[in-house]
Amino acid sequence: MSSTGLARQQALIAAASLDVQRLRADFPILRTRVNGKPLAYLDNGASAQMPQPVLDRLIRYQTTEHANIHRGVHYFSEVATAAYEGARRKIRQFINAREDREVIYTRGTTDAVNLVMHGFGRKLIGADDEIIISQLEHHSNIVPWQMLRDERGCRLRIIPCNDAGELVFDEFEKLLNARTRLLAVTHVSNALGTVNPVKRMIAAAHRHGVPVLIDGAQAVPHLQIDVQELDCDFYCFSGHKMFGPTGIGILYGRAAWLEQMQPYQGGGDMILSVSFDKTTYNAIPYKFEAGTPPIAAAIGLGAAVDYVTEIGMEAIAAWEHELLDYATRQLSAMPSVRIVGTAKDKAAVLSFVVAGVHPHDVGTILNEEGVAVRTGHHCAQPVMQRFGIPATARASFAFYNTLQEVDQLVAGLRRVQQVFG
Ligand SMILES: Cc1ncc(COP(=O)(O)O)c(C=O)c1O
Repeated sequence: MSSTGLARQQALIAAASLDVQRLRADFPILRTRVNGKPLAYLDNGASAQMPQPVLDRLIRYQTTEHANIHRGVHYFSEVATAAYEGARRKIRQFINAREDREVIYTRGTTDAVNLVMHGFGRKLIGADDEIIISQLEHHSNIVPWQMLRDERGCRLRIIPCNDAGELVFDEFEKLLNARTRLLAVTHVSNALGTVNPVKRMIAAAHRHGVPVLIDGAQAVPHLQIDVQELDCDFYCFSGHKMFGPTGIGILYGRAAWLEQMQPYQGGGDMILSVSFDKTTYNAIPYKFEAGTPPIAAAIGLGAAVDYVTEIGMEAIAAWEHELLDYATRQLSAMPSVRIVGTAKDKAAVLSFVVAGVHPHDVGTILNEEGVAVRTGHHCAQPVMQRFGIPATARASFAFYNTLQEVDQLVAGLRRVQQVFG
């Protein structure tokens, strides 16, 4: 058997090991009916649902463990601190960071990118320096760098993508030069699903001595992430997209960079000592965690990490590929549907337009059929501009989705064609 055939066979075995119906039973919200129809929740790229073990962990914390952390000698403060720091350790192991102190709790991906903009960018990037981003970025990995550009007079260089929605590697390499101070690029495009070749990009950037930030918001729920293997300098993601609560996210940062960076916010917990003359900052990661953090959400994220680890990222990725392949085949066969984003390497996202129908109307009719998709520019307006469209409808999958839900999407699209045909 060829190596591709073997890889495909291994993927099928991994996918088959996933008992989707059993896993779905862990997600109470998936049993909801919407407009009298069974819910087909295909908006996981915006926010994924939480399984019962995560919900139970949140309730256990709130009912039997809650106190403020790091500040008390009393029983509950110690219990809460241990749970909060225990979750940090789980997350560290999940992404294979070297040390717990390289894992910083943030409010989400947006907050993590802004932390790097303030802590790294405002300290180390000046006039005439350059930052490379790509045409596939979410606004949260564009706007902070524009703010820095407007303040510091640095320049943004943009890696273009081709008609399939793949970054053009040669053009990227041409942008790297002695003035480049940072490459900030998404791992998986939220609008198109493209998986960018970030490992190669990181290696190329490092050959020029350029540190790299990866926006992993759409990658962490679908791919096994190993920050040491990637060799990235920063990696950002959000808890709510990986079956954890909202209000929590992670910035992984290489310790050597984090130590050089200035704090993002000032306040309690991020200091060692304060007088009116002088403040000494705490060590990392606490230097970047000012004030009372979202303790419950951090612990909930730790429980989400346990949950997906138990299923196995390989089995998750394999099943999601089955879903994506099946959905791609079904939608490609519909004459009035055009898939936007046809990269060779894609993850769990299917963006499309229906000829002559605004994506919002597509989303509204699908909702009547119980199908939840996202419509709009997906906070990636430059991607829409690249493809000359204002918006798309986007189905984004999680491991708990089924082939029947894809069929429900297809049936909903047939209704769209009837209504507007
Ligand atoms: C690729 C990407 N980056 C960043 C974000 C922002 O994440 P959050 O809103 O959780 O901060 C998103 C959210 O959709 C995203 O898809």
